[in-house]
Amino acid sequence: MKRNLFIAFEGIDGSGKSTQVKLLSDSLKKAGHKVYSTFEPTDSPIGSVIRNIFNHKIEADHRVIAGLFVADRLDHLLNKTNGILKKLEEGFTVITDRYYFSSYAYHGVHMSLDWVIEANSLSAELLRPDLNIYIDISPELSMKRLTKGRSSMELYETLENLKNVRAKYLEAIELLKFQEQIFITEGNRSPEEIAADIWNEVSHITVPAKS
Ligand code: ADP
Ligand code: TYD
Repeated sequence: MKRNLFIAFEGIDGSGKSTQVKLLSDSLKKAGHKVYSTFEPTDSPIGSVIRNIFNHKIEADHRVIAGLFVADRLDHLLNKTNGILKKLEEGFTVITDRYYFSSYAYHGVHMSLDWVIEANSLSAELLRPDLNIYIDISPELSMKRLTKGRSSMELYETLENLKNVRAKYLEAIELLKFQEQIFITEGNRSPEEIAADIWNEVSHITVPAKS
């Protein structure tokens, strides 16, 4: 059966990714797995430039942002201290909140999807997720969740953009369905129901850690 897994969570802003990363991580730990949870944009120097762009502190063209994410992802994989490849080698199951499908969806809105896929091909060659989990919610629900308790919105958080991003996610999923392992789950349900659905899927591909 399989080695320790690499799982990527995907979905538009507010779809419930961080909530589900936590719940899946807890379930895997309970089953005896060593789990490392991580996220993109990362907390590396490249990731912090990206965050400053999203917070409107610095300005950058969409093509520059797409390029920064390519670099941030490669560092996320290859970093010698806490890179994903190193963590997998150390025996961790790695769960990431966003990976290259986020780039396909968010940058595919502004430039050719083929270009974005090509620009991320090195990451895909280095490591394809054993499972991409796409949590599907409507852009309207996303805006409702995001505006709750917040005074300012980030760069990509407008209803119109989120509609485009969701459509691009679905386009990329359809295009790559034979190359990628993708599980789509309906996000407009309770966190527990979604987590049960995800656990059912993940437990089919996980090696029992305790024998
Ligand atoms: P993301 O990481 O995709 O942005 P979060 O997990 O941070 O999403 O969730 C965004 C907001 O929605 C948070 O306030 C969270 O508590 C809430 N939330 C997450 N999952 C659900 C759910 N299934 N139903 C209702 N609210 C949810
Ligand atoms: P994130 O902090 O995960 O936001 P949220 O928790 O609301 O989903 O991501 C910040 C933003 O980065 C989000 O709007 C999506 C965007 N993004 C890209 O544009 N390209 C990418 O490759 C990635 C990974 C994220």
